[in-house]
Amino acid sequence: MSYKKSILITGGAGFIGSHLVRLMVNKYPDYRIVNLDKLTYAGNLENLTDVEGESNYAFVKADICDRNAIEEVFTNYDITDVIHLAAESHVDRSIEGPMEFVMTNVVGTVNLLQIAKEHWTSKEHVFHHVSTDEVYGSLGAEGLFEETTAYDPRSPYSSSKASSDHFVMAFYHTYGLPIKMSNCSNNYGSHQFPEKLIPLMINNIVHKKPLPIYGKGDNIRDWLWVVDHASAIDRIFHEGRIGESYNVGGLNEWTNIELVKFLCKSMDEKLGREIGESEKLITFVKDRAGHDMRYAIDATKIEKELKWKPSVTFEEGLDKTVNWYLENTEWIEAVTSGAYKDYYEGMYQNR
Ligand code: NAD
Ligand code: DAU
Repeated sequence: MSYKKSILITGGAGFIGSHLVRLMVNKYPDYRIVNLDKLTYAGNLENLTDVEGESNYAFVKADICDRNAIEEVFTNYDITDVIHLAAESHVDRSIEGPMEFVMTNVVGTVNLLQIAKEHWTSKEHVFHHVSTDEVYGSLGAEGLFEETTAYDPRSPYSSSKASSDHFVMAFYHTYGLPIKMSNCSNNYGSHQFPEKLIPLMINNIVHKKPLPIYGKGDNIRDWLWVVDHASAIDRIFHEGRIGESYNVGGLNEWTNIELVKFLCKSMDEKLGREIGESEKLITFVKDRAGHDMRYAIDATKIEKELKWKPSVTFEEGLDKTVNWYLENTEWIEAVTSGAYKDYYEGMYQNR
């Protein structure tokens, strides 16, 4: 079969990537979706068992830093477009070891850009780079991140993503590579690795383990349901303007402590526990080094220009998320065995 597009999605076995792959494979049967992933601790093909048998889906295990492997994929699958999500994504891990973040997030991104530039001879292509609001740094009590906000990354993770964003823009300005970019706020939803706040808390509440809140818990994050992020990427990829970046968020700010208390109450109800029981598990621990105080996205550009907005409220999205974790205990047990235990002990033992 000849496909209308042959899209390389990098990092498709990860949290957001697997939601995007699912959306694209099901919504666009006339596209071939090639999921390329190194399958690090964060990549899991179990996330995609429902699409792995589809004829328009292919999986390739490779590292985005591996020039030969990526070249081969571009040639073998005649790649017309890229949606690039592969990354090291966890801030705490970047504080422990920044080099892996430089390799994948910076060197890997430049490798992909370079190969796309060499293979594509016309402008009828799109290289969509998926990035984060953390590149803008940390807000005080007022204001929102706009697309024009100056970059001010603070963590090794956000510095590596900021660097990759700059390379993406450099390839547009210098070589005319047809790029698009999106910078999204914190995602939550099913299949998120339980090193991140929401799945970690859900898992610890289930097992009646301490709920580690960094510092005073007054840091603010702006939460978006992962399925809505995937739909925003779809919209930007198809309708966004070349050379532009789009902020994605849901105007949904929570302090960490209020969010965790809300989660405790909702899970007490679901688990038939006395209201207030899980809250007793909250433990204030040593703060994250260089902890950004507040993130909040102004999503006016994507809302006005591309008519995108989130499909669910936070309460609805969180309810679906908690239900998924409670119904998929095998998934969570599989990913929290082995190496996860070592990671958890290393990260939380001395906090
Ligand atoms: P994740 O950590 O869950 O998944 C990352 C995926 O990339 C994994 O499947 C992993 O195996 C793969 N990968 C890592 N290194 C690779 C390499 N060298 N070569 C090939 N594959 C590799 O991350 P996520 O939360 O799904 O984030 C996906 C993207 O979205 C990242 O670029 C991240 O910066 C960005 N983002 C995430 C959020 C969020 O809240 N999670 C918000 C905004 C933007
Ligand atoms: O804003 C987008 C970013 O959101 C993405 O680019 C990153 O890939 C993603 O990991 C996320 O970064 P954060 O650092 O904001 O997410 P995390 O879930 O690690 O932490 C959310 C907040 O909760 C943050 O203020 C730190 C705090 N926290 C986190 C953990 C894991 C705790 O208080 N306790 C914890 O155990």
